[in-house]
Amino acid sequence: MTVLALETSCDETSAAVVRDGKILSNVVSSQIQLHAEYGGVVPELAAREHLKNLLPVTREALSEAKISVQDLDAIAATQGPGLPTALLVGFKAAQAIAFTLRKPFVGINHHEAHLYSPWIQVSRGTKDGGREQLPSTLDSRLSTKIPPNVSLIVSGGHTILALVESKKKFRVLGSTIDDAAGECFDKTGKLIGLQYPAGPEIDKLAEQGNPKAFDFPRPLLHDANDDFSFSGLKTSVRYFLRDNPDLLNNKQKICDLCASIQAAIVEVLVAKTIRAAKREGVHCVTASGGVTCNRSLRNELERACKRNGFELRLAEKSLCTDNAAMIGILAEQKLKQGISIPSLDEEIKPGWVLA
Ligand code: KG4
Ligand code: ZN
Repeated sequence: MTVLALETSCDETSAAVVRDGKILSNVVSSQIQLHAEYGGVVPELAAREHLKNLLPVTREALSEAKISVQDLDAIAATQGPGLPTALLVGFKAAQAIAFTLRKPFVGINHHEAHLYSPWIQVSRGTKDGGREQLPSTLDSRLSTKIPPNVSLIVSGGHTILALVESKKKFRVLGSTIDDAAGECFDKTGKLIGLQYPAGPEIDKLAEQGNPKAFDFPRPLLHDANDDFSFSGLKTSVRYFLRDNPDLLNNKQKICDLCASIQAAIVEVLVAKTIRAAKREGVHCVTASGGVTCNRSLRNELERACKRNGFELRLAEKSLCTDNAAMIGILAEQKLKQGISIPSLDEEIKPGWVLA
């Protein structure tokens, strides 16, 4: 089965072609530069940029996969959650393609796609004209039986802990009650004077800093629930900088600050994930979403899982941030499971909560 998938829920325009659990192409056009000067994603600009980029990105995905639209068996798109005007672009384009080709259309929950993305293995083939050899494959366990696992989804918009019982069944254990972890990286980075999105830069600067230099709060760390809260940490950094403005004139102190903020975020994410995994009695932990690119989070999760005897599956870095490949892979799974396909008059679901 060959599926074309489109993803335009936020600030990445992406198109991918997947066939039988393999990624034939996964083209992502990022709008980071466009939004950087505003310090965050501007929904109207994001939608206009998706409109401009979607066709070229889709053409490139088809050409890289060496297929034509006639070879497609189904079309998929992110249905939600996301920015309404941004979602509309990819979702309506995908419906139009499906209608024209008279092929099934599948609307996918963006978070559910992140949830299963750690099971996609990116091939590490030799370079061919500067391009990685395709295809990447889906771990066979996702097409048969994946072990029950606790899954952490950490992105700029969401922080979710879920129990995945099978490829059809999952349950949200907790989520953020205010800011997401990525949002905390971005907003504290802005206070330090870093460009949006600040997560990757904090990751880099933190490497040369002392994570114990400054003591920031670990919100909800010891609360009995699986929820997260990061807005208090952001406020604490704001007051700390108000009282210590000279600190930003010292490069080493900025690195120490980044390392200390990162340590607070990572400690909460890792501790609550491991605690949930122990309580739920699973043997496997997974993590996905943009913040899973963070090296300290990857290392600390690895260390904690090893210590507690859990198998750890981290989404490949190229699949952590938003991409259409994860949408296509999940759509193909749903088609194969015979899950009912939404009709073409389905609408976007900007506030679609993972349940
Ligand atoms: O999943 P994603 O691409 O988009 C959303 O759905 O939000 O995640 C983007 C988020 C941003 O907040 C960005 O700062 C964060 O992921 N991020 C990182 C790193 N790379 C991306 N945060 C910390 N360390 C990183 N290396
Ligand atoms: Zn995402």
